[in-house]
Amino acid sequence: MLSKRMNYALAIFCALIMLSASMLAKTRVTKQAFGHTTDGTPVDIYSLADGKIEVRIMTYGGIVVSLRTPDRNGKLADVVLGHDSVDGYIPNPPYLGALIGRYGNRIAHGSFQLDGKTYSLPKNDGDNTLHGGIKGFNQVVWTGKEIKDGVELTYLSKDGEQGFPGNLTAIVRYTVSDGALRIEYSATTDKDTVVNLTNHSYFNLAGQGTGDILGHVLKIDASRFTPVDATLIPTGELKPVEGTPFDFRAPHSIGERINADDEQLRRGKGYDHNFVLDHTAGQLSEAAEVYEPTTGRILKVLTTEPGLQFYTGNFLDGTITGKEGRVYKPRYAFCLETQHFPDSPNHPSFPSTELKPGEKYHSVTVFQFSASSR
Ligand code: GLA
Repeated sequence: MLSKRMNYALAIFCALIMLSASMLAKTRVTKQAFGHTTDGTPVDIYSLADGKIEVRIMTYGGIVVSLRTPDRNGKLADVVLGHDSVDGYIPNPPYLGALIGRYGNRIAHGSFQLDGKTYSLPKNDGDNTLHGGIKGFNQVVWTGKEIKDGVELTYLSKDGEQGFPGNLTAIVRYTVSDGALRIEYSATTDKDTVVNLTNHSYFNLAGQGTGDILGHVLKIDASRFTPVDATLIPTGELKPVEGTPFDFRAPHSIGERINADDEQLRRGKGYDHNFVLDHTAGQLSEAAEVYEPTTGRILKVLTTEPGLQFYTGNFLDGTITGKEGRVYKPRYAFCLETQHFPDSPNHPSFPSTELKPGEKYHSVTVFQFSASSR
């Protein structure tokens, strides 16, 4: 039997071990200058490292510039598409890694009605408005502030900016802990408006720019999706995925059915569709999981949002050369954009994207990384 004194020493020893483990687990946040925009505004880059993953985020566009995660042997690779410097992102037609606002995804004919008033937005995708208009949140410099485990980015979007009503204060907190990147979005307004924020990271779990993502195995917890017309605007129908190439309730490789004889896949040139998540919106819960067999990397996506845009990089056309000189070709990455449904302001039956003065927009998405020994 251990003496009282030895018990005491053992307890202190254990407490010290636990304390140093928690200190080791602490996320290191560092900030560096990262060049300028074309008008000379300085841009900073924050690095968030928790000992498992390392994420770099810059104040221009709130862009996730790099995201390094270990494979099944502990080897790190950068799993998001992007550029080595801020210049590469000006312009950034595919929205690589960017924060998207005020309205992620499409608004039909660049127009919507709110409180009986019609608002006109700049059209930047044929006849539609995509990702907040000609100069969305992806092209502005956010104000960065270091917070515990991460960075807080703030942007004030003025009343009338890109046609949207109300002064909108948007705050996005990126934090890293225990191998996960957490994105917490909040916003307030001084006039009735609409808002739908997301992040447009392009993932390739085998390593950015190394090849296509058709062998990645995907599961999405959605029994329905929102079919689109020829301009990728939802028809309004919530269509069951059962018996279609959109059924990812059990895991399937992304490439298995992407070229199937299916009108919806033809319209999107692959997957470019909003899935109606089965979980209760507003509660943070798992929405999707992706497994990359050659490296064992796994990405789990948790969100409070009701929808998830699954996009297979169909518009990457080999004209963009990104980090490490890698050329980004069609289907070299996938996006899982957590969101409210596209064109909701014109579909009263969809969950509402309206925000009123005194209310707070709040949305959380977690990208959790791990690796399987399988
Ligand atoms: C979203 C859209 C796509 C495409 C990309 C950006 O995912 O749904 O159609 O516009 O953004 O290229």
